[in-house]
Amino acid sequence: MEEILLEKHDVIPPTGFGTYGRNGKEGIDAILCALETGYRHLDTAQTYDTEFEVGEALRRSGLKRDDIFLTTKISTDNFGPDALIPSLEKSLEALKVDQVDLTLIHWPAPNGRIPLEVYLTQIAEAQVRGLTRLIGVSNFTIALLEETEALLGKGKIVNNQFELNPILQNKKLANYCQEKEILVTCYLPIARGMLSNEPVLLSIGEKYGATPEQIAIAFELAKGYAAIPTSGQPERIRSNFKASSIMLTPDEVARIETIDRNHRVVDPDWGPKWD
Ligand SMILES: NC(=O)c1ccc[n+]([C@@H]2O[C@H](COP(=O)([O-])OP(=O)(O)OC[C@H]3O[C@@H](n4cnc5c(N)ncnc54)[C@H](OP(=O)(O)O)[C@@H]3O)[C@@H](O)[C@H]2O)c1
Repeated sequence: MEEILLEKHDVIPPTGFGTYGRNGKEGIDAILCALETGYRHLDTAQTYDTEFEVGEALRRSGLKRDDIFLTTKISTDNFGPDALIPSLEKSLEALKVDQVDLTLIHWPAPNGRIPLEVYLTQIAEAQVRGLTRLIGVSNFTIALLEETEALLGKGKIVNNQFELNPILQNKKLANYCQEKEILVTCYLPIARGMLSNEPVLLSIGEKYGATPEQIAIAFELAKGYAAIPTSGQPERIRSNFKASSIMLTPDEVARIETIDRNHRVVDPDWGPKWD
């Protein structure tokens, strides 16, 4: 089982391109720019309304389907009995692909209104039917991951995507995921541009001729996480991608670990009680 898991993790390119806000013609241009830059992992969701844009950019890029790791996420509106699989089929239609690489439960059901079992069994069935190669979750806490393991068995969920960056390091949850060999994907990996005055990131950046955002992404990759920054600006799309060539020293990683201040941005009142 362990070997299979490692193999699955190996095929997830650690630097992905987020597509929240990348709608319409400008969105397609930005996603295409990301593909031309070298990103091979695209992150979309039913609620972003960017599945069409992702499919279109992929088609225009001329890349082969197999060259790209595609993730989508199931909206909490599609958790009811018999709703999840038809919604994923619609996503595949919008993306113009037969299968996605990874499907995530976007959020646990708001206020726990739908039992976990109802939507987890459906996402597991979607995998059996071949609509998605891998399955995972997003915004799941340790308690929810434990319940998930009890329901689906060990090793079924390969990914948990949640907010993580140098000023919100989510250490308890990230450590738990790594112990369980669940890949951590960081959303808001550059804290939506709020890192530009962080002294530690600026000082480490001087050594590499890098921006604080690049140092943040390099930190996340050094920790063994995947990161999915987004931008609508070609220069930033390229500079964020280049972060993967920065190899921080253990000492630099340790310095960045000290600037965590639990600065959470995405925190809906119907969400789970965070660890
Ligand atoms: N699972 C979930 O619940 C969840 C929640 C939120 C996000 N996500 C995913 O994670 C992805 C990333 O999160 P996010 O888009 O919220 O935040 P982010 O990637 O941390 O930040 C994006 C914002 O930062 C700006 N930016 C980009 N590169 C920059 C740079 N080098 N320097 C300064 N500012 C820069 C962008 O503006 P410009 O466009 O002007 O460059 C944009 O407003 C999303 O696109 C989505 O795919 C998932």
